[in-house]
Amino acid sequence: MNESDSERIAGVLENIRYKQTFKIDKADLIVVNMCSIRQSAVDRIYGLRQKFNKLKDYNPKLITILTGCILKKDKGRFSEYFDFILDIKNLPNWPKIINNKYKILNTKYYLNIKPKYSLPKIAYIPISNGCNNFCTYCVVPYVRGPLIHRKTKDIIKEVKTLIKNNYKEIWLLGQNVNNYQGKLKDQDSKLINFPKLLELINNIPGDFWIRFTSSNPKDFSDELINIMTKCKKITPYLNLPVQSGNNEILEKMNRKYTIEKYKEIIKKIRKKIPDIVLSTDIIVGFPGETKKQFNDTAKILKKVKFDMAYINQYSSRPETLASKIKDNVSKKEKKERWEILNEILKQTALEKNKKYIGKIIKILPVEWKNGFLFGKSFDYKSVKIKGPKKLLGEFIKVKITNASPWGLKGYYK
Ligand code: 5AD
Ligand code: SF4
Repeated sequence: MNESDSERIAGVLENIRYKQTFKIDKADLIVVNMCSIRQSAVDRIYGLRQKFNKLKDYNPKLITILTGCILKKDKGRFSEYFDFILDIKNLPNWPKIINNKYKILNTKYYLNIKPKYSLPKIAYIPISNGCNNFCTYCVVPYVRGPLIHRKTKDIIKEVKTLIKNNYKEIWLLGQNVNNYQGKLKDQDSKLINFPKLLELINNIPGDFWIRFTSSNPKDFSDELINIMTKCKKITPYLNLPVQSGNNEILEKMNRKYTIEKYKEIIKKIRKKIPDIVLSTDIIVGFPGETKKQFNDTAKILKKVKFDMAYINQYSSRPETLASKIKDNVSKKEKKERWEILNEILKQTALEKNKKYIGKIIKILPVEWKNGFLFGKSFDYKSVKIKGPKKLLGEFIKVKITNASPWGLKGYYK
């Protein structure tokens, strides 16, 4: 979501004469789009003070802006470091604030600002912003605010334009896409839910892939499974954050599902889409998490055999409900728990990836470095191959020769 916001920031700035540079000492304006999900992300901002002071000695005209997910108390703290701290939702007004000779953009809603898409033929499309779920560890509802849905017709319009421009991968973004409720026309009484939105996008003619993130298991419906099975452009990849394998911890996290319900969803998905690639998010060391409770998380990892898991060590976030409970699992213990899960993941991920050896698969290369192309397959496997830069953003066929837990290698056919 932050990357997508950065693309809209770049879009606004290019409209008012700025041009993107990758040389920081040449910049007249620097926007830092920050994250607050864990303390480590916030801490990175402290390191910028000295760097910015040096840059300002060199270029006194330099303007620095902080935006993104910022806690109230950090706004005060960081106000000395930056010339402006600006709310991302106020993006249409930024030109006026930065330099008052510019007019306010005529689009009022920041998600409708035209982004400067930064990836070759891959686009992020936010379908909503904010979250009302209030998982007790999570800062998102406090920094992004309540859930706001983007209008269905605006989403469809953006996707249609992208497909006309030969875009090949469409990412629908929301903190919990399963909560989406939109309308095709303002006067409509019928609501478009997330599966319906997927179907509408799938029906747009063209050769492209549809991906989405993130999906809270508590709102995962049979209707969504059916649509994923039926619509051939929706990729067989799903990130379904489990967070913990223990029901008491899930309840303390306010996740509103049980581990039995989670396993049932996985079973249903695998029945309909046997080759689905599954990833998950996990938090180890939630306040009060005992070794036994942690072992339940290890068990679910072994049982489900995820292709990928984003394992996080709990970080207490100000304002959240969990921050009122003592963060009593030591840093050392959190790290040990992280390592145990990472070992399980390495084995299951390698086991899954090995099945690709010898197969010919379609990939969309997104990055080129020193003669190598990096891309993802239809089912979101990372693939590295030798190949020319001109293939960036083109669907290509690749034969897989090697597998590691974190990706595949092969050659261009
Ligand atoms: N500490 C550690 N991990 C967190 N996440 C969210 N909040 C925290 C926190 N306070 C993780 C969750 C979420 C992912 C985006 O970040 O696993 O799914
Ligand atoms: Fe945070 Fe996701 Fe829970 Fe919303 S659904 S509070 S974004 S973890």
